[in-house]
Amino acid sequence: STLNLLITSPSGCAVEIFVPDEPVVVLFGRDATLHCSFLPDANFSLAQLSLIWQLTDTKRLVHSFADGQDQLADQGGGYANRTALFYDQLPQGNVSLLLRHVQISDEGSFTCFVRVQDYSSAAVLLQVAASYSKPNLNLEPNKNLKPGDLVTVTCHTFCGYPEATVLWQDAHGNNLTENITTSLVANEEGLFDVQSILQVVLEPNSTYSCLVRNPVLGQETHASVTITGQHLSFPVVALWVTVGLSGCLLGLLGALAYVCRKKIRQSCEEEEENAGEEQGGQGDV
Ligand SMILES: *[C@@H]1O[C@H](CO)[C@@H](O)[C@H](O)[C@H]1NC(C)=O
Ligand SMILES: *[C@@H]1O[C@H](CO)[C@@H](O)[C@H](O)[C@H]1NC(C)=O
Ligand SMILES: *[C@@H]1O[C@H](CO)[C@@H](O)[C@H](O)[C@H]1NC(C)=O
Ligand SMILES: *[C@@H]1O[C@H](CO)[C@@H](O)[C@H](O)[C@H]1NC(C)=O
Ligand SMILES: *[C@@H]1O[C@H](CO)[C@@H](O)[C@H](O)[C@H]1NC(C)=O
Repeated sequence: STLNLLITSPSGCAVEIFVPDEPVVVLFGRDATLHCSFLPDANFSLAQLSLIWQLTDTKRLVHSFADGQDQLADQGGGYANRTALFYDQLPQGNVSLLLRHVQISDEGSFTCFVRVQDYSSAAVLLQVAASYSKPNLNLEPNKNLKPGDLVTVTCHTFCGYPEATVLWQDAHGNNLTENITTSLVANEEGLFDVQSILQVVLEPNSTYSCLVRNPVLGQETHASVTITGQHLSFPVVALWVTVGLSGCLLGLLGALAYVCRKKIRQSCEEEEENAGEEQGGQGDV
């Protein structure tokens, strides 16, 4: 086969081929161009060219071209209808591969084999990336918090790649490093959902920020939660006292309103509304 010919040829005078040194970073779902080219002789014709793109590790065939046309009979299953060459540029020695709709499983090394009279090969690295969603933060428990309570803050971010680094910081931008558990799971597409759990003993007026960084894209997204002193300094006993007092106050106002109704109806109705709002605000805490 063509492949054997390439491998057993003497390696004395190879074609010089050009590939990028750095990995090609492509966003999940987008199209990738894996660059590979050589400088053809002046009398080069396409009929002389044999080209094979294959996975470096497994030798699985991604795309091949020989006798002036694509040869896709032995193409690996996952690549059907996803590959193409830049046919108008082949005569100039541009044998770059277009790989459509990149998946996580496409990540890795691709080898470009070129044979004209001599042969040569070189590898191109494909790195897939996807940006993480803005994190969601949840507090547990999230009611009646007071200083000294042990609280679990959960940070959740979705559908990113590769693995994120998660940092927790306080209001002053200091790293929190204790009592943190970060875990990740891959969904069926291979993208990661990352969850990081911080356990802290609450201090008054505290802010907790979760920073999610994609190391390949250099992108950072974050969310923070601030627990104010107001929430914290409102003990449960005071809440019940307030609710009780509000109830008495409402009763009084109701009685008053009943008496007033005949005389100055409009102004008393406004008072009632005010009393209602007051109760709602305090019941919230
Ligand atoms: C192309 O030209 C080179 C010399 O420049 C020659 O060695 C080679 O045989 C020629 N190839 C063809 C197919 O004519
Ligand atoms: C590729 O495209 C052809 C023609 O459009 C279609 O018949 C075939 O089912 C496609 N194969 C895959 C794996 O999508
Ligand atoms: C090869 O073709 C691709 C697609 O048009 C282009 O991006 C690339 O720059 C070309 N490479 C060379 C060496 O001309
Ligand atoms: C926090 O940790 C990160 C990563 O370990 C580090 O790059 C950064 O400088 C640290 N920030 C502070 C304020 O210590
Ligand atoms: C870590 O959690 C323990 C309780 O599980 C707590 O005593 C300790 O103060 C926590 N550390 C920090 C820095 O919050």
